[in-house]
Amino acid sequence: EKGGWSSFMRKEISEEPAAVANTLLGRIHDGAVTLPELDDIADTLTGIDRVIVLACGTAAYAGLVGRYAIESWAGLPVDVELSHEFGYRDPVVNERTLVVSVSQSGETMDTLLAVRAAKERGAHTVSICNTQGATIPRESDAVLYTHAGPEVAVASTKAFVAQITALYLLGLHLARLRGALDEPAIAKLLAELQDIPDKLDQVVESTPARIAEFAHWMADTQSVLFLGRHVGYPIALEGALKLKELAYIHAEGFAAGELKHGPIALIEPGQIVFVIVPSPRNEHSLHKKVVSNIQEIRARGARVIAVAEIGDVAVAPFADEVIRIPFAAPMFEPLLAVVPLHVFAMELASAKGLDVDQPRNLAKSVTVE
Ligand code: F6R
Repeated sequence: EKGGWSSFMRKEISEEPAAVANTLLGRIHDGAVTLPELDDIADTLTGIDRVIVLACGTAAYAGLVGRYAIESWAGLPVDVELSHEFGYRDPVVNERTLVVSVSQSGETMDTLLAVRAAKERGAHTVSICNTQGATIPRESDAVLYTHAGPEVAVASTKAFVAQITALYLLGLHLARLRGALDEPAIAKLLAELQDIPDKLDQVVESTPARIAEFAHWMADTQSVLFLGRHVGYPIALEGALKLKELAYIHAEGFAAGELKHGPIALIEPGQIVFVIVPSPRNEHSLHKKVVSNIQEIRARGARVIAVAEIGDVAVAPFADEVIRIPFAAPMFEPLLAVVPLHVFAMELASAKGLDVDQPRNLAKSVTVE
């Protein structure tokens, strides 16, 4: 039911804060992660020496965010693989490999076949899924449900932030089991994660009206680029995918550091570039490097729309528009930064008169290979 909303997508974006909150609900006690659904495989989780995330599309971008978190917290090597490529290589997988599949529907055929291929090679499997009792969780050793609620719009929004949240929980759970982080460090990260739903509420309240305005004057644009670094990089990929699928506009996401290796040649006067700017307040922040990327593309005539922290004063002089998000610990920034990009794709598609819930040529769940 859409209720009073003009589209399911608009409704589901407004539910992104609740999707994160509900995925955390009941899973944090006294500064530690509690995931009883993984109790049966606790020994396995202690014995693995690598993680492979299998997913497609937006779910694979959630996996990429999870990679930064799991590597940093649990000290395990993580690869993120597109499901449809995985089974057709000769992937090196064994009984010390944990395969984490990420799928909103739990029915994506490509991902199901990849999970089966991994199991045949001896891997252990955990499914991160938003649909109770779906095929992929049924065929996995364990399942960590995201509690985003039913997602109706074809483009995934609230399930994406819930998938990232579940991967954070898994990362911190692995960190504890493996003794990679001490208890106070885990408790601090969990407290920061628990603050995210309130901050997301602020983003959902404050950004849409402005974005609707400039999405309107951009309705004729032919191409939009997205830049990000570290966990901002998968968010750049996600922003570009949403724009392709909803507004039928050519869009590319790049790791900002890659610009000088080729993509900067695309920059000509008027080119619209979204830049996800990491907070300057975070230790080891890549903020300065990203701001200098902005200067480089601005000097070549790009129109820059920055997604930046509220207190970031350094970025404003170089950007045509700044969309403000609250401060978050570096690993958690993606949950806040992605919302304006979801809103932008939806508003641009609406400005072009397109059906945002049912883009052409796409199905909500892709049950064929
Ligand atoms: C994009 C989108 C798709 C899905 C992908 C995987 O907005 O929704 O890219 O993320 O088809 O679907 P699930 O998560 O159901 O396996």
